[in-house]
Amino acid sequence: MDAETRLYGLIGFPARHSLSPAMHNAAFRELGMNAVYLAFEVAPERLKMAVDGVRGLGIHGLNVTMPHKTTVIEHLDGLSGEAEEIGSVNTIVNDGELIGYNTDGVGARRALEMVTSLRGKNVLIIGAGGAGRAIAYALSKVSEVVVLNRTPEKARALERFGVTGDRLTPENLRRYLANADVLINATPVGMNSDESPVPAELLREGLVVMDIVYKPLKTRLLREAERRGCVTVDGLWMLVHQGAESFRLWTGKSVDPELMRRAALEGLR
Ligand code: ATR
Repeated sequence: MDAETRLYGLIGFPARHSLSPAMHNAAFRELGMNAVYLAFEVAPERLKMAVDGVRGLGIHGLNVTMPHKTTVIEHLDGLSGEAEEIGSVNTIVNDGELIGYNTDGVGARRALEMVTSLRGKNVLIIGAGGAGRAIAYALSKVSEVVVLNRTPEKARALERFGVTGDRLTPENLRRYLANADVLINATPVGMNSDESPVPAELLREGLVVMDIVYKPLKTRLLREAERRGCVTVDGLWMLVHQGAESFRLWTGKSVDPELMRRAALEGLR
């Protein structure tokens, strides 16, 4: 680090357990870039001050995580089409102006495309929170998407993207899963608890199953899916691919997702 080191970072609350510093600093090292990525714990009432600080200090780029993904929007100068549509920002690029992007959807798409093509496939997403919305929007461009949510209005609100939204019930799970090629858990169910949002008997061979939860890496959903012959993609792959896309937006450079994953795995231990 010297007087020319570029600063990037993450704002969240909490931010201390984030794997993003490990991933991005590994990428900077690999590419020989004079840059560093830090985590900033920003309480909600300090969000505006933090964004003013980004402008004032010339911080080059930020990731944004809970609980700021929506509330940060009013402090920015512009949004990508995707961030605007889903009302959620996870990446800010500072090129003199602060522009908000969302790379969660692309991250999920790239993670899935490691194991399957998505064109014309039937995708079932459980959850219509920030992550579920981003994934539904991105996949709606290539796939037939159904979103099931505990609060059905939030799933139905996504029908403007050309997806089907419905209530999360055992019957709807059974009905839509019978027709699905890809299943995505976009709820926190399974995080730090041994629960699955889907009864194991509904999982069948050949189904592609992705979880956005990455703590634990092998959620109950993924373990049961593996046991029943499904192809699985863990949440760390989505995290890595959204991070790689943020990195590309900030630097114009591609980074090997495997490298980012190795760094994130170190951080998970
Ligand atoms: P994020 O922005 O990280 O996706 P969020 O906005 O809090 O987080 O959304 C969490 C999603 O998980 C929501 O779809 C939520 O359902 P509701 O919209 O009905 O709240 C869903 N969710 C959370 N806990 C759940 C549970 N125990 N069972 C089913 N869905 C759950």
